[in-house]
Amino acid sequence: MKLNILVVDDDKLVNEFIGETLRRVRHNVTTAHSGEEAKGFLTENNYDIVLSDIKMHKVSGMDLLKFIKEKTPDTVVILMTAYGTVQNAVEAMKIGAFDYLIKPFSPDEVEMVISKAHQFMSMQSENRMLRQEVNDKYKTIVGVSKKMSEIFELIQNVAPSRSTVMIGGESGTGKELIARALHQHSDRADRQFIKLNCAALPDGLMESELFGHEKGSFTGADRQTRGRFELADGGTLLLDEISEIPIKLQGKLLRVLQEREFERVGSGETMPVDVRIIATTNRNLKKEISEGNFREDLYYRLNVIPIEIPALRDRMDDIPLLVDHFIEKYCSETGKEKMQLDDSAMRLFMKYHWPGNVRELENFMERAVVISQETTLTAKDFPNSLVLGKIDDKGGNFEVGMTVHDAEKLLILKTLKDQDGNRTRAADILGINPRTLRNKLNEYGIAEPASES
Ligand SMILES: Nc1ncnc2c1ncn2[C@@H]1O[C@H](COP(=O)(O)OP(=O)(O)OP(=O)(O)O)[C@@H](O)[C@H]1O
Ligand SMILES: [Mg+2]
Repeated sequence: MKLNILVVDDDKLVNEFIGETLRRVRHNVTTAHSGEEAKGFLTENNYDIVLSDIKMHKVSGMDLLKFIKEKTPDTVVILMTAYGTVQNAVEAMKIGAFDYLIKPFSPDEVEMVISKAHQFMSMQSENRMLRQEVNDKYKTIVGVSKKMSEIFELIQNVAPSRSTVMIGGESGTGKELIARALHQHSDRADRQFIKLNCAALPDGLMESELFGHEKGSFTGADRQTRGRFELADGGTLLLDEISEIPIKLQGKLLRVLQEREFERVGSGETMPVDVRIIATTNRNLKKEISEGNFREDLYYRLNVIPIEIPALRDRMDDIPLLVDHFIEKYCSETGKEKMQLDDSAMRLFMKYHWPGNVRELENFMERAVVISQETTLTAKDFPNSLVLGKIDDKGGNFEVGMTVHDAEKLLILKTLKDQDGNRTRAADILGINPRTLRNKLNEYGIAEPASES
């Protein structure tokens, strides 16, 4: 690829030498004889690489570097310096120079550093593209329901602040996704997003996971370790399933939230920390408080901005868009042509009560896309539980007070469920013929045969 390169040196011979070297390998080279002239060029044109002397009158190479990093941070800057002033070049790398050349240098060295820069640039743009693809396409939160639209608006408003956010909602509703969105829309987006799943850790390890520890602070602590708070400094810390934090640690957590400082386990040194906390829970914390499992003062500290994500069954109008989103995701992941979902399947989806929420829908879609050889997905591509899950919803007990019609329906559905949806076997047990069973199921709105394996 032909690169646009700006060479800046008040020494005319150096300019000519580099210009010649790089034009020979077919790059576009512009030369400037001072920092001011270079600034002028940089304002007018785009350069992939700037190769500049450090020591120049008025506008030095360092000044130019700062100017470029401000204006076009993606431009790669390489500085040139005499042997005695290498320290300057090292300083320059700290503020964003890509590399430096020590004078005098050979044509080979110039070519080498340019090709290294070139490689770096293509890697960077590849990374950017990949990241964008992942972020934009599959990490997006999909939803059109009124409830989700309200949440999207809330995210926009709340993301820029440092306030603690508490995200509630059943399992699989998208709590983590929302937490990540809050981070991405904040001015902390370029810093770390650190997650700690409080439910996945034994109590004894939690404190050191959160705050880190010093070497020798407990058996097995064979080196100093940084905790999640330290790792998330300047960024966001997601405390997943906050209700699982043992009560004796809750006080310490409260202190970090209030004082913005903490100590590593086994250390007397207090460290300041700037972290935005997002907590999630799928338990009712008010209930945990009344049962003495959760500190009330911590609850109020955390619950500054509550976001409650509704269960999928309470926002069924999101389903078509989610289906489309996951079809696209898994078709592109498996390299399949984009599939459709037919009405029979969509009708099932709209009747199901989705105990596992969006995650369950995603899993169904993934499985169907991976297995199906057709371009249209139908009810047959989804598990029987989609049809039968409805039974759990209704409690499903025979009681005095129910009608014969309801009792019959319950018996039929229970038998069917027991037989994993196999209609022939269910009809056999029920002592009715399969056609009668089909008619009954039609009547109950379970018209579509799920796969009868
Ligand atoms: N609105 C949405 N749009 C797109 N994908 C979603 C949406 N909600 C959830 N998902 C996807 O569903 C899956 C589960 O979401 P997530 O992990 O955020 O749920 P959760 O509420 O944190 O669940 P748990 O309580 O089990 O930890 C993820 O793959 C996520 O990308
Ligand atoms: Mg989660």
